[in-house]
Amino acid sequence: MNFKEEKEKRITEIEEVLHTYLPEEKGYAKTVISAMNYSVLAGGKRLRPMLMKETYELFGGKSKIIEPFMAAQEMIHTYSLVHDDLPAMDNDEYRRGRKTTHVVYGECMAILAGDALLNLAFETAAKAFAMEPENVNIGKAFAVLAGKSGIYGMIGGQTADIEAEDMQDKVTREQLIYIHEHKTAALIQSSMMIGAILAGASTEQITKMEKTAYNVGIAFQIQDDILDITSSLEVLGKATGSDAKNHKTTYVTLEGVEKSKADVAALSQEAISLLDSFQGQFQNDFLEALLQELITRKN
Ligand code: IPE
Ligand code: IPE
Ligand code: MG
Ligand code: MG
Ligand code: MG
Repeated sequence: MNFKEEKEKRITEIEEVLHTYLPEEKGYAKTVISAMNYSVLAGGKRLRPMLMKETYELFGGKSKIIEPFMAAQEMIHTYSLVHDDLPAMDNDEYRRGRKTTHVVYGECMAILAGDALLNLAFETAAKAFAMEPENVNIGKAFAVLAGKSGIYGMIGGQTADIEAEDMQDKVTREQLIYIHEHKTAALIQSSMMIGAILAGASTEQITKMEKTAYNVGIAFQIQDDILDITSSLEVLGKATGSDAKNHKTTYVTLEGVEKSKADVAALSQEAISLLDSFQGQFQNDFLEALLQELITRKN
C-alpha cells in the first residue's frame, strides 16, 4: 500500500462530499455563508471524517448514509476551531495556512459562522434519515454526534481549558487529562463510534472503538501540545507558541517533551493493539497505518 497516495485519495473524496453539503454563497446571508465556506474549505487534515469512514468500512459498512455524517463531523470540528481562535478564546491569527475567520470576516461573522456550521451539521446529518427511513442506527449515531460535541464532550473540554488558563502549576494531571479527553478525544470518539454504529457494529464493538478513539484522541492532543512548541507556522499552518501566550498548562509543561513523545507513541500503540484485538475478523490496514502515522505527524 502506498500510504501517502491512499491518504490523498481519501482527502479528495472527503472534500467532494463536503462540497455537496456546503451552502451556496448568495442572498442576504451571503457574508456568513462565505465565512463558513472559507473556514471549511481551507484544507486541514480531514482526520475525523477519514476515521469515521475507515471505521465504517472496518465493520463492513457500504451505504451512502455515512457521507452526511462525515460532512457533519467536519463541520462541527471546523466550528470548534473558528470559535477556539476567537480573541475571547485563544486569540490566534492563523489556521490551516491562512488568516483565521475572525481576522478576515470580523468577530461577529466568525461567531455566527461557527454557530451556523453547528446547525448545518445537524441539518446535514439529518439527511441520512430520509435516505434510509427504517434504519434505527441513524438515530443512535445522531445522538453520539450531538453528545460528544456538547457539555459532556468538546464544549466541556473547552470550558475546562479556558478556566485552567493562569492556574499554572495548580493544574493537575487529572484535570489536564479531562481537558484533553473532552476538548479533543470526544470528536475523535464520535467519528469512530458513528462509523461503527452506522455499520451495524455490536454494543461491545462500539465500546471498543470508543476506547480506541480515546487513546488516539489523547495522543493527538499531546502531539498538538508538542508541535505548539517545536514546530513553525509554515509547517503547522497555525501559529506556534499559542499555549504559552495564553498561559496554558499543557502535557508538555507538565511532563516535558521527551515523556510527551513517549506517551504519544504508547497511547497510539495501545489504540492499534485494540484494533488488532479483533484478530483478523475485522481488519483495515489503512486505518492502522493512519494511527501509526499520527505518532510522528508534523502538522
Ligand atoms: C486541531 O485539530 C484542533 C485540535 C484538536 C488539536 P486538527 O489538527 O485536526 O486540525 P485540522 O482539521 O487538520 O486543521
Ligand atoms: C482546541 O485545542 C481543541 C478544540 C476543541 C478546538 P487547541 O486550542 O490546542 O487547538 P489549536 O492548537 O488551536 O488547533
Ligand atoms: Mg484552545
Ligand atoms: Mg487553540
Ligand atoms: Mg493547540
